[in-house]
Amino acid sequence: MADLIPDLDEVRRLDREHVLHPITELRKQEKYGSNIFVGGHGVELTTADGRTLLDGFSGLFNINVGHGRTEIADAVAAQMAKLAYYPSFWDFGNEPATRLAQKIVGLLPSDRHLNHVLFHSGGSEANEANFKFARLYHAVRGKASKAKIVSRRWAFHGATRGAGTATGILAYHIFVEQDASHAYFATPYCYRCEFGKTYPDCGLACAHDLETVIEREGADTVAAVILEPVMGTGGMLVPPPDYYGPIQEICKRHDVLLILDEVVTGFGRTGKWFGMEHWGIKPDLVSFAKGISSGYLPLSASVVSDHVYETIRDQIPEGIPLMFGLTYNNHPTCCAAGLANLEIVEREGLVENAAVVGAYMLERLREAFGKSPIVGDIRGCGMLAAVEIVRDRTTKEPFPNVEDPHHIAAAAFQRGLIARALFQCVALAPPLISTRADIDRMVAVLQQVWPEAERHALG
Ligand SMILES: Cc1ncc(COP(=O)(O)O)c(C=O)c1O
Repeated sequence: MADLIPDLDEVRRLDREHVLHPITELRKQEKYGSNIFVGGHGVELTTADGRTLLDGFSGLFNINVGHGRTEIADAVAAQMAKLAYYPSFWDFGNEPATRLAQKIVGLLPSDRHLNHVLFHSGGSEANEANFKFARLYHAVRGKASKAKIVSRRWAFHGATRGAGTATGILAYHIFVEQDASHAYFATPYCYRCEFGKTYPDCGLACAHDLETVIEREGADTVAAVILEPVMGTGGMLVPPPDYYGPIQEICKRHDVLLILDEVVTGFGRTGKWFGMEHWGIKPDLVSFAKGISSGYLPLSASVVSDHVYETIRDQIPEGIPLMFGLTYNNHPTCCAAGLANLEIVEREGLVENAAVVGAYMLERLREAFGKSPIVGDIRGCGMLAAVEIVRDRTTKEPFPNVEDPHHIAAAAFQRGLIARALFQCVALAPPLISTRADIDRMVAVLQQVWPEAERHALG
C-alpha cells in the first residue's frame, strides 16, 4: 500500500502547509502532521506507512457498509459516465434522486406519512433545510413569529450557522457567533441527571423541561424542536422508553413541529432501520445523512411529512416558489451511491446484524470494563456504544478535562484500533458489517491499553 504514495514525506509536508483539518489544534497539526489513509477493506483501514487499523468508529459514524465496496464505485462510475450532474431546480429532475426518494419513503414506517424528500450534501444542510421548512410552515399559516428552534444541551446537529447554534455542546460555541433565535432544554442523560433525579421516579423531568422552555420563550415564538433519537456525539445518550411520549404531546399542545435528526441513527445504526422505531416517534420532519451513502459520496436528506408539505403547498401565495436551493440538491451521482449503498444494507441484512452484534458489543464492553475503577457507565444502542470515564465511581466526579478519554483513544490507535474520545467517554461505532470476532478484536485492543489508562487517570 505504501507505494500508493511514492513521495509520502512530501505529501505530509504539503498537508501540514496547505490542508486545514477540522477539530484539530493548528499548532499541533503543524508540528506532528497527519496520518494519511490510503486504503480500506471491510472494517480495516490502511495508512500510507503500511499500518492496518480497525475502524471502530466507521469514520464519523458513517461508513456503515464498510470500506472497499466496489459495487458502489461501479454504480457511481456508471452514473457519472451517463450524467454526472445537472440541477434539479425548477422543473428539472433525474432518475437516481427519484429512485432513492422512493426507496427511503418505502423504508420509513408508512404510518408516519413521510413522503417528500430533498437531498443535500451533509447533515448540517439537512437540518438547516428542515429549520426553513418549519419556519415556512408557520409563516404560511400566518404565524411568522414562530421562528425559534429549540434543542437539547449536549445535542450535536452540525456546524453551519443554524445547525451549529442548535448544537448544545458548549465546546463548539467558543469564539463562534451564534444565531439568536434559539433555546435549549435538558438532556436525557440519566447517569448525570440535571435535576439530580433517578428514572423512573424522576417523572421524566428532562422531557417536561421542554414545556418549561417553550413557555418561557413564548409558544408563539417557537417553530420546532430538533432531537437526535439517540444522542451520538454528546456521549451515546439513550433516552428512557417512555421519553418521547411527553415530548410529542408538548409539541402538539404548543403547535411546535418535531424535527428528528436521524443523521447518525438512520439506516440501521441503532439496530432498526430508523431510531424513531425504538420509541414509536412520529416526527414532522426528518434529517438523514451519513449511513444514507456510507460516506462513499456526500449525501444527506430532509424528509417532509405530508401534513407539513400540504400546508406549505396549499397556503403559500400563488407565484412564490420554495425560495431556497443548493447547487447540489438531488445530485444524481451522489444519489446513485446512496441507492447502491442501501441495496447492500438490505441484501446483507445489516440492520439485523447491527442489532445482534451491537448487543454483543455492549455485553463485551460491560464484561471487560464494568468493574474498572475509572468506569462510571457503559451504554449504547445497536452499533453505538460509550464507556464513560470518571475519577470516582461513587461520586461520579468527572475528570476535570477531556484528557483521559483522548489518552485512551490515542493509546488504542497506537495498537491498531480507531476508537473515539467523546468528551468524558471512549466510544465505539463500528461498521454495521462487523462480526462478533471483529468486536472481540476491538475490545481486546481496549483491554490492552486499559491498565495503563487506569494508572494514568488515577495518577
Ligand atoms: C446527529 C448529527 N446531526 C448532524 C450532523 C452534521 O452532519 P455533517 O457533518 O454531515 O454536516 C452530525 C455530524 O456528526 C450529527 O452527528
